[in-house]
Amino acid sequence: MTEAMDAEFDTVAEWTAQVALELGPEYHIPAGCRGSGSPAALDWLIEHLELTPGDTLLDSGAGVGGPAAYAAQAVSLHPVLAEPEAGACRAARTLFGFPVVQAVGSALPLADASVDAAWSLGVLCTTPDQLDLLTELRRTVRPPGRIGLLAFVAREPLRGREPEGNHFPTGDRLTELIADAGLQIQKRRNTADLPSPPSDWTDRVDAVTDTLADRHGASRAWQLAERQSSRIGDLLDEGAVTGEMLVLRHA
Ligand SMILES: C[S@@+](CC[C@H](N)C(=O)[O-])C[C@H]1O[C@@H](n2cnc3c(N)ncnc32)[C@H](O)[C@@H]1O
Repeated sequence: MTEAMDAEFDTVAEWTAQVALELGPEYHIPAGCRGSGSPAALDWLIEHLELTPGDTLLDSGAGVGGPAAYAAQAVSLHPVLAEPEAGACRAARTLFGFPVVQAVGSALPLADASVDAAWSLGVLCTTPDQLDLLTELRRTVRPPGRIGLLAFVAREPLRGREPEGNHFPTGDRLTELIADAGLQIQKRRNTADLPSPPSDWTDRVDAVTDTLADRHGASRAWQLAERQSSRIGDLLDEGAVTGEMLVLRHA
């Protein structure tokens, strides 16, 4: 991980959990989803992965666990979180109390076919080990292999314009990686086609962000993390990168 990624995914993740705890329970899930998940994207994945009560859902690169908590609240399933950053693992345990293993997505300490479903949201572009991350999802999810991805995809190769440590695959490269991992695409949707989050959700996210900025705005970690997310925001705004949600199955 680069210093900027550690700032965003470790230091700021832990600060985010502290702020959410102070603001109250209705802030926990929106705060925990600041990493990438919006309610409409999560609803789409929950529906098309056919997640049902009692399912075990692996979240690979879970961050502070907001998306898994959203799914648990929506369909009473059992999340298992894997996340490499120690601060994010602590934050997820504190906020949501789910089982969390500290691990990269390319080497999951889980047995073959040990979970009913898995997703990995906003994670693929943060690692060069993209094929191994997908292969591990295939290995750990039992057939038929209900796997969800939220992936940021480059329209053209970005040739060094990525924020530090990011590796956005093109659409063709993503299709190739999925096939090479022994998976097939069942459904695909662009996040730009989804409705915006409701105002009570964005109000809570904004309250968390404002509190974090008041408290930590002068710190190097906050500034690095903000620079990373605003660079990705700029690439999305100019259409150089798009958000793609995919539902995959074993090929
Ligand atoms: C943009 S955040 C998304 C967090 C969470 N999935 C969400 O949607 O809220 C990316 C996450 O991927 C994690 N990550 C980075 N490299 C990883 C890897 N090789 N394997 C698994 N997770 C990784 C980061 O620590 C961070 O928590």
